[in-house]
Amino acid sequence: MNTPPAPAVSQLHPDGRLRHLLTLDGLPAATLGALLDAAQAYGAGAQSGSALRARLAGRTVCTLFFEPSTRTRSSFQLAATRLGADTLAFDVSASSTSKGETALDTMRTLEAMGVDCFVIRHADNGAVAALAAGARPATAFINAGDGRSAHPTQGLLDMLTIRGHKGADFSKLRVAIVGDIRHSRVARSDIHALRALGAREIRLCAPPTLLPEPDDRAGCIVAPTLQDALAGVDVVMTLRLQRERMQEGLVPSLAAYLAEYGLDGDKLRLAAPDAIVMHPGPLNRGVEITDEVADGPQSVILEQVGNGVALRMAVLEAVLAR
Ligand code: NCD
Repeated sequence: MNTPPAPAVSQLHPDGRLRHLLTLDGLPAATLGALLDAAQAYGAGAQSGSALRARLAGRTVCTLFFEPSTRTRSSFQLAATRLGADTLAFDVSASSTSKGETALDTMRTLEAMGVDCFVIRHADNGAVAALAAGARPATAFINAGDGRSAHPTQGLLDMLTIRGHKGADFSKLRVAIVGDIRHSRVARSDIHALRALGAREIRLCAPPTLLPEPDDRAGCIVAPTLQDALAGVDVVMTLRLQRERMQEGLVPSLAAYLAEYGLDGDKLRLAAPDAIVMHPGPLNRGVEITDEVADGPQSVILEQVGNGVALRMAVLEAVLAR
């Protein structure tokens, strides 16, 4: 994969507060921990009603998605609404983008209407950082997924979900990440977060054609088989098989993929008995995960979705804090 360009703008203010959230790569563990603590408090309902809605009252958050989304976009909208922000869900497909307007011009047009924070998904690596570099200094940017490069709020909500089951000390945790890691911005952000939080082992398992480049797997163990990857792990993260990879000849067939890399009940028994099973969605049921596992007692997939709202509240509040 192409190494994404380093963000041209700094994610942190000089005093260490979060200015944008573009990637988890290089963010201090203390920053991650503070966001997770704030999200945990929101998830526990520490505040409600008018006090909650006062937090971002008068601020405007715009979701600007150049790629499809179910979970990420909806949960950002809910998060912003719960904190009292005005929200604008910009519909790219029905906009002047289809008349050839550039993403930069679209962003600047909306910024001129008073948007304080953009939540952006784009197909190109580095696109959100590039838009942030072209904006006014006070406008905040949150990366909701850029190319294969990063999906930082997904990485954080995954850590929040792990913490909820395994506690805040990651130093004993063995984590397996299974599937199309090479094309996954989710896996990249999960690896960045797990490394920063000091996970004991990060095992990667994928067909050789879907393993990440050496730079992206630094500090991880590449497991030769799914059975090796799963032995004794505390957390299993499965990933969507991007079906277009089959057309590219990177995977022989869906049936062969399921047999070798799909997570079913028998394989899951190799993990620790209290292991949790995660997936960022959308699921390809019967390809990377069977119904039995996706809907089984060890699955925390819907909990991940729920945690996404609390985590995104914490991130919006951090970047919009006055
Ligand atoms: C992912 C994405 O778009 O990066 N979905 C998500 O945000 N939960 C994962 C995927 O598309 O496979």
